[in-house]
Amino acid sequence: MPAIVLVGAQWGDEGKGKATDLLGEHVQYVVKFNGGNNAGHTVVIPTDDGPQKYALHLLPSGILTPGVTPVIGNGVVVDLEVLFEELDGLNERGVDTSKLVVSANAHVIASYNRTIDKVVERFLGSRKIGTTGRGIGPTYADKMNRIGVRVQDVFDEKILRQKVEGALEQKNHLLVKVFNRRAISVDEVVDDLVSYTERLRPMVADTSLLLGNALSAGETVLLEGGQATLLDVDHGTYPFVTSSSATAGGACTGAGIPPTSVERVIAIVKAYVSRVGEGPFPTELLDDDGERLRENGKEFGTTTGRPRRCGWYDAVIARYASRINGVTDFVLTKLDVLTGWEQIPVCVAYDVRGRRFDEMPMSQSDFHHAKPILEYFPGWSEDISKARTFDDLPVNAQAYVRALEQISGAPISAIGVGPGRDEIIQLRSLIS
Ligand code: GDP
Ligand code: IMO
Ligand code: MG
Repeated sequence: MPAIVLVGAQWGDEGKGKATDLLGEHVQYVVKFNGGNNAGHTVVIPTDDGPQKYALHLLPSGILTPGVTPVIGNGVVVDLEVLFEELDGLNERGVDTSKLVVSANAHVIASYNRTIDKVVERFLGSRKIGTTGRGIGPTYADKMNRIGVRVQDVFDEKILRQKVEGALEQKNHLLVKVFNRRAISVDEVVDDLVSYTERLRPMVADTSLLLGNALSAGETVLLEGGQATLLDVDHGTYPFVTSSSATAGGACTGAGIPPTSVERVIAIVKAYVSRVGEGPFPTELLDDDGERLRENGKEFGTTTGRPRRCGWYDAVIARYASRINGVTDFVLTKLDVLTGWEQIPVCVAYDVRGRRFDEMPMSQSDFHHAKPILEYFPGWSEDISKARTFDDLPVNAQAYVRALEQISGAPISAIGVGPGRDEIIQLRSLIS
């Protein structure tokens, strides 16, 4: 009964969507266990008419693989408008989405939480997080505060109304008296949510039971994390994080499966690092190299279109991700983007006010002052996008990968050399 967890090792956008798509053919279920439409996964699929590009936000990347049952787990926050927009968009392109299952316990992003996300950011001013503005944080806050609206509530208008009334009683005070915005009426929220009932009903299930039965029957379940380790609300660079559990531990609570069912933890790690939004980033490059990484790697957000901040590979955070998640395999992506540099720096440790740190500093203020201690590796100039075996890579690229493997805390089992599904070097199977 194997469950496989797939998470991001850095600050997101490592190429999780592509990796999930790659594994899709070998699994029966792909479960999104955290986050919502703050995620953005670009998946490029080869077809007879050339490569087809898909941008997914709320839906699990497994929705593109025929035969897979895609599941939105209880740990996800669901914007119903986005759910149906995304489904319609895929249906128009001929993707069969009829197998999608949504947890009855997933929380719903109500319109007031989108509004609050945006106004709170504005009020924070220079202390803002740089959120995606999708209402993610306020919806998780409601969940923890026990005033959230769950998917199952939408089917009982009386209960829904009571819950929305309860939530708005507090929020309207906040909106009107603190944020100087108009009050939101219970009717407009309830009418909006109820309008999805008919389409939603057939998709909703007890997904924990569904997955438990699947695992007992020996089927393979892939748990796909949104965001990443350093954006995890507990283990990330708090407060510059998202509001969910994006690490391997969160996969079990967010899907309702036991930790004992997880056999493999795959972390996706980019051959350099990117970050969207605010917060510390020790290897960030504010010079021509940063611009070149952004251009070569097409580092512009799938969700918000924002330019991503870019920097060199950071082995300290890779080791941290390896430890926090219990990584069994790394998938190293975007090695091709580094082609053309004469030498490639890698951060092996931090210098914090003259003290060396080989592990993540405990305190936020030390991490904010961390300066990378760099080691330099010789680069390569050959196009590597056609490489399909390790030996196809130039020797300097091989040495770079081997060096990262040694200092990152877990074996590298696959290497991405381009955005396409087939642009990958598999070193060992990712499915047990
Ligand atoms: P995710 O959020 O982790 O799923 O990642 P995103 O989809 O937001 O960003 C990763 C981007 O890199 C996407 O545009 C992918 O198509 C692309 N990509 C993934 N793997 C590779 C790779 O090995 N090489 C290159 N050049 N692009 C890749
Ligand atoms: P994928 O799944 C990169 C960042 C936002 C912001 C912080 C909080 O594509 O890797 P939120 O809207 O979640 O409250 O924003 O988290 N963020 C991401 N950055 N990739 C993502 O998802 C992200 N999801 C959220 O930019 O800094
Ligand atoms: Mg992304």
